[in-house]
Amino acid sequence: MTDADVFNRLLAILKDYRATQKSGSVLDYHAPANLRDKLDLQKESAAQSYDQVFDWVETYLKYAVKTGHPQFWNRMWADANMPAIIGEMVSTIAHTSACTFESAPVSTEMEKYLIDEFLSIANFKNGEGQMTTGSSNGNLIAMMAARNLTIKTAKTSGLNGAPQLVAFVNSEAHYSMDKAANVLGIGTDNLVKIPVDDRGRMQISALEAQIIKAKNEGKIPFFVGATAATTVRGAYDPVGEICALRNSCGTDFWVHVDGAWGGSVFLSQSRSAEFLPGLEQVNSFTFDFHKMHGIPMVCNFLLINGQKGSGSEILHSTITSGNDDYIFRGTDQDRPADLGALSLQCGRHTDVLKIFLAWKFSGQAGFVARIERFLAKAEFAEQLVLQTPELELIVPRESFNINFRFRAPDGFCVDTLNRQIRQHLYETGTAIVGLGQINQQTCIRLLIANDAASEADITQFFDHFLAAAKVIINEAEG
Ligand SMILES: Cc1ncc(COP(=O)(O)O)c(C=O)c1O
Repeated sequence: MTDADVFNRLLAILKDYRATQKSGSVLDYHAPANLRDKLDLQKESAAQSYDQVFDWVETYLKYAVKTGHPQFWNRMWADANMPAIIGEMVSTIAHTSACTFESAPVSTEMEKYLIDEFLSIANFKNGEGQMTTGSSNGNLIAMMAARNLTIKTAKTSGLNGAPQLVAFVNSEAHYSMDKAANVLGIGTDNLVKIPVDDRGRMQISALEAQIIKAKNEGKIPFFVGATAATTVRGAYDPVGEICALRNSCGTDFWVHVDGAWGGSVFLSQSRSAEFLPGLEQVNSFTFDFHKMHGIPMVCNFLLINGQKGSGSEILHSTITSGNDDYIFRGTDQDRPADLGALSLQCGRHTDVLKIFLAWKFSGQAGFVARIERFLAKAEFAEQLVLQTPELELIVPRESFNINFRFRAPDGFCVDTLNRQIRQHLYETGTAIVGLGQINQQTCIRLLIANDAASEADITQFFDHFLAAAKVIINEAEG
């Protein structure tokens, strides 16, 4: 088969998949052992047979979850964005690493351009940034920058003998914060979880009390990680109030915003004022485009605000280690010529092409319009829950997450019943929806991040949900 034949065959399969992705079941479900049997992964490899490669491709797609299906509600991402799909395909065919200008000149300039765009929209002065592998990585690097600024010898001598550092996050913050505390030698016990108010936001008075306590114990409060928005509730921590506390409490801790899920609201001036007032005062901010904007995984930015004084050097001084002069070629104007110098890994996927093409295709206004569509649909879904007597909202909606559950009839455990309903929808390929825990209660976490889903699809989801509940209750009652 020539390359041209391979491309033609591949494109035909992809076109067919894309055309059918929104219909039929969300997946053809099989339990793991059953799926392994069906896949027959041990099958002999046929010497360089593209027929076999395409058989595997067809098999892969047959059992894949259709994340572009309008009944896919389960995760923070859904339907992949077409201009970004083009970017992903072009990146793969051009096969390079965004580590150096030499090997990836265009992507390097695109990345610098978008970093500058986002720094300007976030109103960060003298800032810097980089694309990372996701917000887990963004959170880690931000905490690392804060650690190294606080303990100047941390990079070279480690933390041995240094005063104990303490970080603070929302008690419902993402687990990547615990991982960061683990990796950086802070220790997960020194990541203090701040209780939340009835809207799921960090309580500032509790944060202040914990900072004072740490100081009284001779420890250094060095980092406060705000979340925008929290994974299960969709709550936005009060960023401006945290910055005000930093200014008033006499401790110059680093304020970071984990905007993995809802951080991109900063693209809208009015939504930024509503959800992220004070953002321009924080030290760092990470946000994912591979979540609600449908850019194929992964696509993340970490921005550092230069206002702290160290300007555009923080990432460089935090990260560069070891002898890298075989690969990096110094500076370009006032920043490293090679963005790999600011990265924790060496090889870097050219993630920027995906977001660059999507950005040029839709413009900032297109991204903002998508956010507005999601917020309107989230409100619609919340209203449906409130109007359905069999359902209850676990907590009022803060943004894009609707946390609800089926009210269990007498004799049923409400947590078990809701898990069973969700599993039934999944295994029958009817719909996939998330699960969460709020105040020790199991809830169904409906995330509005699927642009392929209309209000009619939301209504249909709840119809499916109630029908599944009926099936399970009837079966249990015999
Ligand atoms: C609030 C929050 N932070 C961080 C992450 C991790 O993001 P990533 O998957 O980009 O590492 C998530 C993922 O769901 C999240 O919800």
